[in-house]
Amino acid sequence: MVRTDTRPLVEANGSAGAARYELRLGGDSGDDQHEETFEVELDGEWRELRSHDYDVIFSHPGLYEQLFHDELDCRSPEAVTRVLRSVFSERPGHAAPRILDVGAGNGMVAEQLATLEPEYIVGLDILPEAAEAAWRDRPGLYSAYHVMDLTDMTDPSWHALEDDHFDCMTTVAALGFADIPPSAFVNAFNLVADGGLIAFNLKDAFLDGEDDTGFARLIRHMFDEGVLVLSGQEHYRHRLSVAGEPLHYVAFVGEKHCPVPPDWDLE
Ligand SMILES: C[S@@+](CC[C@H](N)C(=O)[O-])C[C@H]1O[C@@H](n2cnc3c(N)ncnc32)[C@H](O)[C@@H]1O
Repeated sequence: MVRTDTRPLVEANGSAGAARYELRLGGDSGDDQHEETFEVELDGEWRELRSHDYDVIFSHPGLYEQLFHDELDCRSPEAVTRVLRSVFSERPGHAAPRILDVGAGNGMVAEQLATLEPEYIVGLDILPEAAEAAWRDRPGLYSAYHVMDLTDMTDPSWHALEDDHFDCMTTVAALGFADIPPSAFVNAFNLVADGGLIAFNLKDAFLDGEDDTGFARLIRHMFDEGVLVLSGQEHYRHRLSVAGEPLHYVAFVGEKHCPVPPDWDLE
């Protein structure tokens, strides 16, 4: 499924964050960020949700913003954009980027990316609720938004994505934790022109070897083999857990030098 929008890039229209929800946070999330839960009053009833129940969260206007931005103080869209801006500033005269935003969610990242004055931003997410929320809450930010599984090479959206000639890709807060698998990241990476910039973030503990999703190994291998060359990075506080503990991530920006070879083991 793809939606396209020919309107110019605009600021968020303000509907995001307009609704206020009664929330109960503070439960012990244990060690597993993926399993942390919170309670929210919806239609007069308290419901327990996982913070990763994005389909339900995106379906309620402003809930994602209230939970992650306002309550848990998520700073990743700004942090990844900040590193990207700094790398662009060292490339004077660069053309307006054509950005593929992978795991785009409801457009909070694109809202930041719009400050880089891109030629266009194309969103991509596996959830139709994410695309619907982006169109509902931030119309005009994306020139197109694809709802697809990046591991499915038969998806008709691939043709449109190849025609977009991306020179920048962003993936914010969407790697690891049973979100985007390494093979999907690689398929998106290979869409970007050689010399283009790849911006993403990873939990810092993953980089210390606590990652069983294979991402840290993949990224290390990409850097070691010169497939991706580091251009900038920042260690920062991504957000608080629902229990109020700081969660630290690293934002990376690298230059793509060549596609990931087809014979790499991505398991
Ligand atoms: C934590 S949200 C981040 C959204 C947005 N990047 C942000 O920072 O606000 C993770 C997003 O990744 C998406 N996602 C998870 N698995 C995916 C996959 N296999 N392919 C594409 N998107 C995926 C989810 O649907 C969700 O929108």
